[in-house]
Amino acid sequence: MKTRGAIIRRAPGTYEIAELDLDEPRRGELTVRMVAAGLCHSDDHIAVGDHAVGTYPICGGHEGAGVVVQVGPETHGWSEGDHVVFSFLAACGRCRWCAKGLQNLCDRGAAIMTGSRPDDPSSFRMSLDGVPVAQTCGLSTFSEYTTVSVDSAVKVDKDLPLDTLCLLGCGVGTGWGAAVNSAEVYPGQTIIVQGIGGIGINAVQGAAHAGAARIIAVDPVPFKRDSALRFGATHAVADMAEATEIARSHTNGQGADAAIVTVGVTTGEHIAQAFSAIRKAGTCVVTGLGKMTDVGIPISPMELVLYQKRLQGSLFGASTPTADIPWMIDLYTSGKLKLDELITSTYKLDDIAQGFADMHEGRNLRGVVVF
Ligand SMILES: NC(=O)c1ccc[n+]([C@@H]2O[C@H](COP(=O)([O-])OP(=O)(O)OC[C@H]3O[C@@H](n4cnc5c(N)ncnc54)[C@H](O)[C@@H]3O)[C@@H](O)[C@H]2O)c1
Ligand SMILES: [Zn+2]
Ligand SMILES: [Zn+2]
Repeated sequence: MKTRGAIIRRAPGTYEIAELDLDEPRRGELTVRMVAAGLCHSDDHIAVGDHAVGTYPICGGHEGAGVVVQVGPETHGWSEGDHVVFSFLAACGRCRWCAKGLQNLCDRGAAIMTGSRPDDPSSFRMSLDGVPVAQTCGLSTFSEYTTVSVDSAVKVDKDLPLDTLCLLGCGVGTGWGAAVNSAEVYPGQTIIVQGIGGIGINAVQGAAHAGAARIIAVDPVPFKRDSALRFGATHAVADMAEATEIARSHTNGQGADAAIVTVGVTTGEHIAQAFSAIRKAGTCVVTGLGKMTDVGIPISPMELVLYQKRLQGSLFGASTPTADIPWMIDLYTSGKLKLDELITSTYKLDDIAQGFADMHEGRNLRGVVVF
């Protein structure tokens, strides 16, 4: 079938709309009519060239939700009309990591930047004038229709708003889990969140849920700081020096229990600032990504060892999407998790480039394409 999707022809580039050919679903695949797709900074990393991908053009988007319109042959347990939220990381359910409840580390993740079918690097589900088009994370949510593996889909109740639930495919779980799972925040703690975008604002929500007494949000953009206060931050400041001072003033000079790095283009310097801000045996969680060729974090090995600090990477908030996406939905429907309030602006697919321009200007917590 034909579909309109937002592609990057080469990096650096901007998302432009093209008419693509989309494969019918094979065994273990679904074709989905997209309802909504969130704009995550990782899609921008691909556009500006921070993250090189295996194949260009690539059709963007890895946060989204939609309705199944066709089910592949012998693909049991799925029906036309099912509502799905995608997980940006597919989970096979069988590898060592899935078996241990660490679906975010599923071996299928190795294929997220190749854009082909996971079991065949030469097989692509999308094409443009006969040329293969890669799918971001095997998904391409910036397309009116897409064909995906069932390993990327989580079925959800039909009475829930898909244009809100789309955020559960990356941003919400990534930020919330960075605080709850990776920083292991517990009641009374002092937490710094560095960077209040779609990820950081959910780290603030997660830290608040876990009972942090002080949540210090850091962002140079005043709108982000005001937003953080509405999502549970107790302080909001423009830079890490001030955040570190506040953390120390509340902890007898020791520093934050954890600092979570969610800056849009994360550098080693940002991580070093967060690392300096934590107390002895504190945790520095790194969720933000930067240029894939960057090497090095300028921290003191002495400080690492003698203060027994922990530097902890976090992928999709160390979550297990098939369990945690329904859990997040339960938190949302019971009024404990803010989702609707995360969406600052919505866009038509044709205006997606404006959505990324607004991301660069710091205008959105999350921008969402509504189809
Ligand atoms: N680890 C994962 O699983 C995962 C998943 C999704 C996204 N990410 C990454 O997380 C990062 C954040 O994504 P997002 O969608 O929230 O981005 P975003 O652009 O919405 O937000 C980033 C925020 O960082 C702020 N910022 C910039 N410089 C800063 C500084 N020096 N100090 C404090 N704040 C600063 C910006 O003002 C902005 O509010 C990106 O690098 C993205 O690629 C990682
Ligand atoms: Zn993302
Ligand atoms: Zn697996």
